[in-house]
Amino acid sequence: MPPIPTAELHLHIEGTLEPELAFALAERNGVVLPYDTQDELRVAYSFTDLQDFLDLYYALMAVLRTEDDFADLANAYLARAREQGVRHAEIFFDPQAHTERGVPIGTVIEGLSRALDAVQETHGITTRLIMCFLRDKSAESALETFESARPHLDRIAAVGLDSAEVGNPPSKFREVYARARAAGLKCVAHAGEEGPPAYVWEALDVLGVDRVDHGVRCLEDEALVARLVADQVPLTVCPLSNVRLRVVDRLEDHPLPAMLDAGLLVTVNSDDPAYFGGYVGDNYTAVRNALGLDDATLRTLARNSFRAAFLDEETRAAYL
Ligand code: HPA
Ligand code: ZN
Repeated sequence: MPPIPTAELHLHIEGTLEPELAFALAERNGVVLPYDTQDELRVAYSFTDLQDFLDLYYALMAVLRTEDDFADLANAYLARAREQGVRHAEIFFDPQAHTERGVPIGTVIEGLSRALDAVQETHGITTRLIMCFLRDKSAESALETFESARPHLDRIAAVGLDSAEVGNPPSKFREVYARARAAGLKCVAHAGEEGPPAYVWEALDVLGVDRVDHGVRCLEDEALVARLVADQVPLTVCPLSNVRLRVVDRLEDHPLPAMLDAGLLVTVNSDDPAYFGGYVGDNYTAVRNALGLDDATLRTLARNSFRAAFLDEETRAAYL
């Protein structure tokens, strides 16, 4: 059976760096990795929590230095995603993780954009870029990053918020989100992955987000669920990520069915597929098998992904 056509809405491009490409880029750029072989590296992919994963995620980015590197990274992701049914991809990138290593933001955006333009041309896959702020860095650093991106805003559809959640509430980034919205950008934020429901409220009411990334912990707050349902705020859920980062113990215990039953606008996504054991189609297959979802439910999830995407209505209608 061909894969079900989907939009992927929660995907960190740096989290698509497979060991094979990491070693190839390390060699090309003369970067020494703290692992001798790909197998040795893969052993490090057993995470205790979000921070444990982030430590490796940031360390491996040392191999990404040139426009070509970012284009190669995005091309590798898009080839895999296409095989798994992705027709539209909204792709996060973390500029501060690169600028702090001396890689200019223009290098990152130009390299990624080259791959995105090519895949639209060759395969008709539509894409958007979402620029994320690292929430464990200061609000000032986020503002500086936003200002440095101004010359490139025609390439950016939305801003997002990621990295270590607990202790870094959305309200810390009120001002940069106001600026982004004033510049005509959409807004999303990770909230309710490791952080409490209060962070989801803040993402909605302080940042004014159009979607919530993860959001699985909303189920702990009945009034929050009612709000998310009433406004049909999309949640970009990442089942395999939730297992690997111990947000849930086992895929069989994942709250996805409860979220659907509650009437939430849920989508399924891969997050950091090179690290979490699968791309978006693998996530669909895994939830189908572990949670016993039927074909109609899988079609609902896929339809939700296009409903939640940042598409003009004509393009959305063509996908639905
Ligand atoms: N959560 C927060 N920050 C991240 C993630 C995630 O799952 N992946 C990459 N950065
Ligand atoms: Zn994420």
